Amino acid sequence: MFTTRFTQLLGIDHPIVQGGMQWVGRAELAGAVSNAGALGIITGLTQPTPEALVAEIARCRSLTDRPFGVNLTILPAINPPPYAEYRQAIIESGVKIVETAGANPVDHLPDFKAAGITVVHKCTSVRHAVKAEKVGVDAVSIDGFECAGHPGEDDIPGLVLIPRAAEELTIPFIASGGFADARGLVAALALGADGVNMGTRFMCTQESPIHDTVKQAIVAASELDTELMFRPLRNTARVASNSVSREVVQILGAGGQFEDVRDLVAGARGRTVYERGDTEAGVWSVGMVQGLIHDVPTVGDLVETIMREARESVTGRLSGLLTQEPAAVR
Ligand SMILES: Cc1cc2nc3c(=O)[nH]c(=O)nc-3n(C[C@H](O)[C@H](O)[C@H](O)COP(=O)(O)O)c2cc1C
Repeated sequence: MFTTRFTQLLGIDHPIVQGGMQWVGRAELAGAVSNAGALGIITGLTQPTPEALVAEIARCRSLTDRPFGVNLTILPAINPPPYAEYRQAIIESGVKIVETAGANPVDHLPDFKAAGITVVHKCTSVRHAVKAEKVGVDAVSIDGFECAGHPGEDDIPGLVLIPRAAEELTIPFIASGGFADARGLVAALALGADGVNMGTRFMCTQESPIHDTVKQAIVAASELDTELMFRPLRNTARVASNSVSREVVQILGAGGQFEDVRDLVAGARGRTVYERGDTEAGVWSVGMVQGLIHDVPTVGDLVETIMREARESVTGRLSGLLTQEPAAVR
């Protein structure tokens, strides 16, 4: 077992989290991750209404008696979802862990804290992490440039971002973006993190509720096969490279506006990708880490393998590199 400040804070066995994933983070995946001793997270806004989220939380509870969380992604929108009602649905369902992401979670904190909820805020820069600590979140999940979804605009990869976060934060934090195996976990711990958050790796498991064709596409793809979309709009998203995402990049790069790509990036099209397995139907999030993903294991096998190999790495290969100090030269 690896015991860290993060595993102790959340009451989980392993320092591994399955981050919120639109259309993917449903009860069967979150439940399987939590049953494996890591932390599964249901994606709140994947559910069409707060009432549907209540039902999804109940479904997850029927699948696991271990701790699991709910992701609340706070994004700027012309017609924002009813955030206060989703928040209330989480609280009234008795969920005790929330992953916030996107904008500053400060408006949601008083209610979450009053309900005894542990809040893990996911962000992409050290300055936002420090701000989150200041406003009172319990832990931070810091997403490097490698990550699927929104990597922010600073482009700082984990190798620098994680130790910088360790320098500035006093609360527990986990490293996110680019993690898929024991090598990444051990590296993150060495860099000062208290665990890892994984999206793409958990998306490519047996229990992940998406079409198998998408999982096979991830296995077949390399680390080169992603696009950074919306860069000129300063709302960058890392998605799978396909005909749709390349067209979006081309239109915006030539000076186009959001209106010009609105139809191409519609959420409904992305959802079709996962449901029908048509990887060219729309844009869909995936990380560079797909280059390290070569199989579609069960969640239980994945977590067990990561933890076993991490232990072997620390007690075997790494400690084997230590040699006797040479005797002092007189
Ligand atoms: C398909 C997919 C959908 C995602 N949707 C969300 C989301 O709705 N909210 C969120 O906070 N993060 C979202 N993410 C980001 C993940 O929670 C996580 O931060 C990211 O995947 C980490 O990078 P990795 O894929 O390299 O592990 C998504 C990731 C993927 C792969």
